[in-house]
Amino acid sequence: MPTVIVTGGAGFIGSHLAERFLREGWAVHIIDNLATGKRENIPANATFHELDIRDPKAAELVASLKPDVLTHLAAQMDVRRSVEDPMYDASVNVLGSLNLLEAVRKQSPATRVVFASTGGALYGDNTTPPNFEDFKKDPESPYAITKLSVEFYLAYYGRVHKLDTVAMRFGNVYGPRQDPHGEAGVVAIFCGRILQGRPLTIFGDGRQTRDYVYVGDVAEALWYAATKPLPPVGLLDARGFNVGTGIGTSVVDMANVLLEEAGTQVPLEFAPKRPGETQESFVDIGKAGRLLGWKPRVTLREGLAHSFRWAAERNAAAAGSRA
Ligand SMILES: NC(=O)c1ccc[n+]([C@@H]2O[C@H](COP(=O)([O-])OP(=O)(O)OC[C@H]3O[C@@H](n4cnc5c(N)ncnc54)[C@H](O)[C@@H]3O)[C@@H](O)[C@H]2O)c1
Repeated sequence: MPTVIVTGGAGFIGSHLAERFLREGWAVHIIDNLATGKRENIPANATFHELDIRDPKAAELVASLKPDVLTHLAAQMDVRRSVEDPMYDASVNVLGSLNLLEAVRKQSPATRVVFASTGGALYGDNTTPPNFEDFKKDPESPYAITKLSVEFYLAYYGRVHKLDTVAMRFGNVYGPRQDPHGEAGVVAIFCGRILQGRPLTIFGDGRQTRDYVYVGDVAEALWYAATKPLPPVGLLDARGFNVGTGIGTSVVDMANVLLEEAGTQVPLEFAPKRPGETQESFVDIGKAGRLLGWKPRVTLREGLAHSFRWAAERNAAAAGSRA
């Protein structure tokens, strides 16, 4: 039975990915320290190792399991926290990743390493979207700098040590199990506010665009990256793939579709634009289509409807357990 390690598998995207591998009959091992992840997200048939990715025990686990694939999603992924505490951010995102990569290099060099990078924060604000993989990188936060750093390490390990490395650059991922924190929790935040009957706060004029991609489509892209033949490892972008929809949707338009799907109305309220926020951000996804055979399947309307339904059910269950 093929084996995969999913770091961050108790988190939002990682738990969907773990389920994807389990459906294919793989043995799934999850490494997570539950910093933001939740025990309830861990699928019943996965083996859970409560470990920090910086811990030598995480490296020992890689060495002993010698997995076919290591999908590395565990991260400090809160952009604001990365600004406040760049040392912690780098310690988890860079040193934690290196701990795993060194274990692969020394003990399990045949393992394919699939890394969760960002398409939303890597290219910065000086490009005209859609952003293609080989566009100039201009990370504007410590978080984005750590993601780009790890991508450089992946290219280096690929070229120099012949490791099989891939970087998947996500847009704004949304869907069931997302917590309203981190890089892209706006859909989860809006679902929560609608359920409380409170206004939706939009920073700036609301015309800033984002590439909202459904979590099931992201898990599918990672599955393809884990299992398909890939072009040779080369310089930075050779094994980098954008994962989005290729469509930029304004925050106001997204909010209006969400309200329609929720079947209710709350006001939109506008607050001053937050410093450093990118105005337009969406990615070209042609490369993932051509080389991985992947394309997103869930429309924004369908995805927002699933997300709202999930949030409403969770709310009802929480209210039931309080009663
Ligand atoms: N959500 C998005 O829109 C988005 C966009 C671009 C990239 N990403 C990347 O995708 C990955 C998954 O993000 P997510 O949205 O599922 O976030 P998440 O916070 O739900 O998942 C991250 C997981 O990593 C775990 N973790 C954190 N620090 C750890 C450590 N030191 N050791 C072990 N586990 C640790 C957390 O407990 C959590 O379960 C991250 O690498 C993130 O940077 C996410």
